[in-house]
This record gives sequence, C-alpha cells and structure tokens, in this order.
Amino acid sequence: MSNAIGLIGGSGFYSFDKTARQIQQDTPYSDDPIILYASEHKHPVYFLPRHGAQHAAPPHRVNYRANLWALKTLGVKTVLAANVVGGIVKDMAPGVLAVPDQIIDYTWGRAHTYFEAFSDDRFEEMTEAESHVDFTYPYDESLRQRLLHSARVLGSPIHDGGTYGATQGPRLESAAEIKRMAQDGCTLVGMTGMPEAGLARELGIAYASLCLVANWAAGITSDVIKFSEIASTLGQGVGGIHNIFNHVIENFGD
Ligand code: HPA
Repeated sequence: MSNAIGLIGGSGFYSFDKTARQIQQDTPYSDDPIILYASEHKHPVYFLPRHGAQHAAPPHRVNYRANLWALKTLGVKTVLAANVVGGIVKDMAPGVLAVPDQIIDYTWGRAHTYFEAFSDDRFEEMTEAESHVDFTYPYDESLRQRLLHSARVLGSPIHDGGTYGATQGPRLESAAEIKRMAQDGCTLVGMTGMPEAGLARELGIAYASLCLVANWAAGITSDVIKFSEIASTLGQGVGGIHNIFNHVIENFGD
C-alpha cells in the first residue's frame, strides 16, 4: 500500500493540517473508534491526537494500543511522535528540541503489549520467540536521522540523543525521583513515551520521537514547577515541531 505516515501529537500539538478531514477507525482495543485527521502531502498523513480529539485522556489513561493499532490498520509504517518533556540535564533546557535515542520505562499498570496470549487470534502467526521483540535501540535510527537532518536544514537547533524516562503521571515527579532518574542516566522525563514506542515496535512500525523540553524537571532548580510556564514554552515550541515533521514528510522517499 501507500507510504502512509502517522503523526502522534501530544499536549499543545493538536493539528497538523487545517484542511485535514476527520476520520474514525475502529480497533479491537477500544469501544469507541479512534479519531484521526487525514491529509494528502507527498505521502498520505494521518495525524492522531494522542489524548483523544477532546484531549480527554491523561497520560496514564491514553489508549496506546488502540492508537497504534488504528495507524497500523490505515497502512502506516512510519510514525513520528511529538512528546513534551521536562529537562533533567543542563543541555535540556526549556525550549530545547531533542531526538532521544534511549528509553527507561518507569510506568506501571498500562496496557503495554499486544501479546496477551500466544493463542490471541489477532496474532495468529506469532510465535513465543517473535513476541519478545528486540528493543535494544527503542527508536528507529534512520527515522531519528531524518528528524535531525530536517531540523538542521531548517536551521532549527536540535539535540541529538538522550534517554527518555517515562513516568506514570499525571502528577509531576518529586525531586528525589528525578535525582534517581538522573543517576539511572535519564536526561528527559515525560509521561507518554511508553508504552507507545514499545507497541510500535511490536507492530513493526518505524517510530521516533521529537521531544520539546517544556520545563526543568523537579528539583533541578530551586523553583517548583508551574503549569503556566509549561504551557507557555509549549506554545512557543510547537511551530518548530510542525515544521520539522512537515520537512521530513516532504523529503520522505517513495
Ligand atoms: N515530568 C514529566 N512529564 C512532563 C514534564 C515533567 O517535568 N514536563 C512535561 N511533561
């Protein structure tokens, strides 16, 4: 089929193309269909607001399985995800755009896999060995390079690499939690990066994330975190994400 590209938008990034048409996609993982926005560019693009069309689902309630399944059903083989994060190390100051290359998953209790049973008829041909997908490099490297290349061509400063620590939310972290995450090697903290990346890997979808740092993580400065500051950094950074995604799509091979 087509070289359809999926975009997953997070907080502050609710639309990619104002002329897109809204579509609904049923999935075996959701009672209600998933809402997406379809538009034609060099390739068909499906924009999926991660938290739902009304931004109703907080990070721990997002139906990640249904979202990725909807994209897969529409023929998507490539997903660019936007994630809003806190910065843990000095390179990751508010306003920075980063393309992480590693993940540590601290989430719990989320529906994080499609492989609930080897007899699951949605995965008829799946063997036990195939269910243990390799996740050594959790993001697709060539897609990461496309994001970095597009940012550079556009003259948009971008940070190559970083370890995304995925927390459960919806509360922000304590200073001690961030200190532990820093000791673990995390440089970014967010609430939506997992299980999304792992599910994409299970479905064989090439997936990479473009992170916008909205605030210093808890305890990195002496201030407490104000949501109003997160919202204002978001407002300023979303245009950059849009432009980079657009450039990747327009330069994506056939
Ligand atoms: N922690 C977790 N998720 C976030 C943060 C944070 O500091 N900022 C934006 N998303």
